[in-house]
Amino acid sequence: MRAYFTTLAVAATVLFSLVLPPASAQASGRCGNHAWCNTTLSPERRADLLFAAMTPDEKIDLLGGDRITSVAVEGEHTGVQNGIPRLGVPTIYYSDGPVGPRQGKSIGLPAPLALAATFDPDLARTHGRVVATEAKFKGNDVVFAPTVNIARTPLGGRTFEGYGEDPLLTSRIAVAWIKAAQNTGVIANVKHYAANNQEGVDLAGGELVARSPFGFGLEGSRMVQNSIVDSRALREIYLPAFEAAVKDAGVGTIMCAYNRVNGPYACENKELLQKILRTEWGFKGYTLADYLAAHNTPGNLNNGLDFEPWPPLAYQPAFIKAALASGAAPASTVDRAVRHMLVTWFRFGVFDRPAYRNNDAQIDKQADGKASQKIAEAAATLLRNERSMLPISTTTRSIAVIGSPATEFAVGGGSGAVKPFTNHSILDGIRARAGSKVTVTYDDGRDHARAASLARRADVAIVVARDAYGEGADRGCLSLQCPSLLGNQDALIDTVARAQGKTVVVLESGGVSLMPWRTKVPAILQAWYPGAHGGPAVARVLFGDVDPSGRLPITYAANEGQLPTAGRRDRYPGSNAGFDTHYSEGVFVGYRWYDEKNLRPAYPFGYGLSYTTFRLSGLSVTGGGDQATVRAIVTNTGSRAGFAVPQLYLGLPSSQGVPQPPSALKGFTKVYLQPGESMTVNFPLDRRALSYWSTSASGWRVSDGCAAVKVGFSSRDLPLRSGLPVGAGRC
Ligand code: BGC
Repeated sequence: MRAYFTTLAVAATVLFSLVLPPASAQASGRCGNHAWCNTTLSPERRADLLFAAMTPDEKIDLLGGDRITSVAVEGEHTGVQNGIPRLGVPTIYYSDGPVGPRQGKSIGLPAPLALAATFDPDLARTHGRVVATEAKFKGNDVVFAPTVNIARTPLGGRTFEGYGEDPLLTSRIAVAWIKAAQNTGVIANVKHYAANNQEGVDLAGGELVARSPFGFGLEGSRMVQNSIVDSRALREIYLPAFEAAVKDAGVGTIMCAYNRVNGPYACENKELLQKILRTEWGFKGYTLADYLAAHNTPGNLNNGLDFEPWPPLAYQPAFIKAALASGAAPASTVDRAVRHMLVTWFRFGVFDRPAYRNNDAQIDKQADGKASQKIAEAAATLLRNERSMLPISTTTRSIAVIGSPATEFAVGGGSGAVKPFTNHSILDGIRARAGSKVTVTYDDGRDHARAASLARRADVAIVVARDAYGEGADRGCLSLQCPSLLGNQDALIDTVARAQGKTVVVLESGGVSLMPWRTKVPAILQAWYPGAHGGPAVARVLFGDVDPSGRLPITYAANEGQLPTAGRRDRYPGSNAGFDTHYSEGVFVGYRWYDEKNLRPAYPFGYGLSYTTFRLSGLSVTGGGDQATVRAIVTNTGSRAGFAVPQLYLGLPSSQGVPQPPSALKGFTKVYLQPGESMTVNFPLDRRALSYWSTSASGWRVSDGCAAVKVGFSSRDLPLRSGLPVGAGRC
């Protein structure tokens, strides 16, 4: 009987496919009945068919964006690319950004640096899914995120927008984020390609960052500055996250940066856009320019820029036509760009579905809020906890909360800024969690003496302080007083700490701040920019409902003199009035620098406390040559359940005078352990993990020798040590 029905069904399918035109394979999209609407054909074939039907003008038109007002108007898409109704090509909508849609209001997720602090690719998936879903429900096809530029200097205005200073952590978070974002049907856009690591020195000393939505750093400005970076540092530090986005996450689009890289501007950089991106990595998507980053029509066309979303400048039809007519760029450059876009849209099913509706009512605010809170909880990084100050004791009857950031929404400025639907502040979070048996008082901290007296009268004081990072200008210095707009927060903390021995400092940071008072307070919790559901998250960590499990994705300098760029204007903001930024520290970025120079940071990369304690044991190293596995056992030695984040670092052998960082992160994992529980953690190592970029060979090489294997809980706490023979080396 069953076989009979199956035969009937097959026969019916064959019959229908004979009588209906190929469009029977059309999805319920907006493509129409054209030959390229046949969903059984490959994206490339469909692109060929459509391409053949396009007029030269239609092709040229597709290269430039179409709505100049889009960036500035509240509630608008960040970019609009008109479709071609005659051919069923849909209009494509673009939105920022890495913290959520910058188009009206959104849930207000924790900043990307906070996400990196979770050391948890699962939560990166959550973050990517929420951002992309909200972008989709605002009618967008593409979201301009994630930002994967490495924090070369913590002064960099966009430090909050990226995933910190390490290429492996950045890559793992970015890949998970992109895959989840693209699973929603939205195309991700990895940015800013490449070596876009500074905004420029704010001549007002960092004040602009806090006072305007976009700062304008003049000296060493990203708009003109040339990142002079050797191929090794580029390949090992600045490019891996882009490479992983292309190869491991299949990202659909990539945004070229404002700055120049070793001479040419990033959006007309053949080495970056063609040799590395297309030929080596096999990128199949399309490239698009940052806003105003394209300004040389033939240069952009010839070297591989596909689309200029805004205004457009270089890709105005008249300019493109002039470049083609004069022979400055061949017509094939336009064809190539059009094909890249069409193939991508077919690959992502853009033609085969209805347009996404722009209606906030589709957003599940409750679910997104919960997700946001969960990320904020996992990001909270406990930097100091003397005499088990935290979690807040159950005998506490009164808490003084001090500092206006406790009532505000902390976010970085610029295209990564978002406006939350509603903000659940830290003060609200503490009040709600403390319940009716605990008196919670508040002072905005403007009058230090008044704040201190409130603190003195309470059992515990919690001072909430924040920094200010923003796009367009770098921070003028790493002090919490930079910018002055925020008041003298260091002095406030000092005064309160003198009045109340039980003072907890909660920091909302978009990067690194100096903490001259750090040994004077018993506890410091780094909450990062925790998002609009950060209040309850911070409260749950403070009260011990959840273990603080964030780890530093960026080194906390003890003073500014420790930065690799300190006293080196050639390195930052750049020599020649800031036009040439020499990345002469090479691969010694972040903790690699501190290790190489034997500097003691305030808090090292990978560091963060738990409410319990852990021990590592049983290190085993198997394999060798160009592949290995490192294993270790982690045990919860305390009396509470908690999260451990074991990390594997390697010190590769140096050969032929090529210096190697003493330690480079090669693996990490986050585990939740009950008291007394043990778990074995595995770190697989492939050939790439054991390689360095050889400038002379222009490729990845394994040098023969013995690699130092180090497993521990931060870049400076590595109790398990062994050796791993790599290449033809021995230990
Ligand atoms: C930023 C990009 C952003 C674009 C559109 C630029 O200023 O650098 O990251 O996507 O604006 O808002």
